[in-house]
Amino acid sequence: MTDYDQFAQDYDVKARNSPHNTQYDRPALLGLLGDIAGALVLDAGCGSGLYSEELLRRGAEVIAIDRSARLLDIARDRLGDRVQWRRHDLSEPLEWLPDRRVDHVLMALVIHYLESPVPALREIHRVLRDNGTVVLSTHHPASDWQRLGGNYFADEMYEDTWTTGWVMKYRRRPLQTITSEFTQAGFRIDELIEPRPIPAMEASSPHTFDRLSREPGFISFRLTKR
Ligand SMILES: C[S@@+](CC[C@H](N)C(=O)[O-])C[C@H]1O[C@@H](n2cnc3c(N)ncnc32)[C@H](O)[C@@H]1O
Repeated sequence: MTDYDQFAQDYDVKARNSPHNTQYDRPALLGLLGDIAGALVLDAGCGSGLYSEELLRRGAEVIAIDRSARLLDIARDRLGDRVQWRRHDLSEPLEWLPDRRVDHVLMALVIHYLESPVPALREIHRVLRDNGTVVLSTHHPASDWQRLGGNYFADEMYEDTWTTGWVMKYRRRPLQTITSEFTQAGFRIDELIEPRPIPAMEASSPHTFDRLSREPGFISFRLTKR
């Protein structure tokens, strides 16, 4: 059982409603993805399928993977077989996907769970068509540093207890490490975004809006093959 299996149902409710997801991460990452009508998109670390749902709405064909069986069940209950679901741990090779099979890869708030992301990024590079794109979001390293203190340049796994009581294990690392891992896997950065909350958040969650307007929370990238 993975960490997310233990609170899958509650996580789904949170991800469907939280301003961090709905008014901050998703608008930024979907904006980076652009037009995907008719494209085959791999939703890597799909969680309860909230991005997959949006990808379908935008006319894409979707393959969605996650290591949490319970989150996949929730996603499947919501979207049925309109998406090709597969339980997969990103630390394992994507051997069931042929070279250059997918047009785009979306990897939202997942990479900081991987202790060694380069092999996973190399696999994503392999299954991506030559002029395809990867859009990816992760914790902003300045936000980790602000929260955890200590050494900004530290590269280590740490445990975090959310206000919900859920214990998560993440990797913190400086921006240079994040970007050099993209390069090692064969990618170049096409665009980098330090998202700002969308204006609607000001009325619905003023405190979070105020904080995210002043302090980075997540950072998003669009990558292409070098
Ligand atoms: C913060 S959630 C994000 C879910 C989804 N991308 C979204 O934004 O709604 C992180 C997800 O990463 C998944 N995950 C973490 N480590 C993984 C791994 N090694 N392989 C596949 N999925 C993983 C978790 O199960 C969880 O669904």
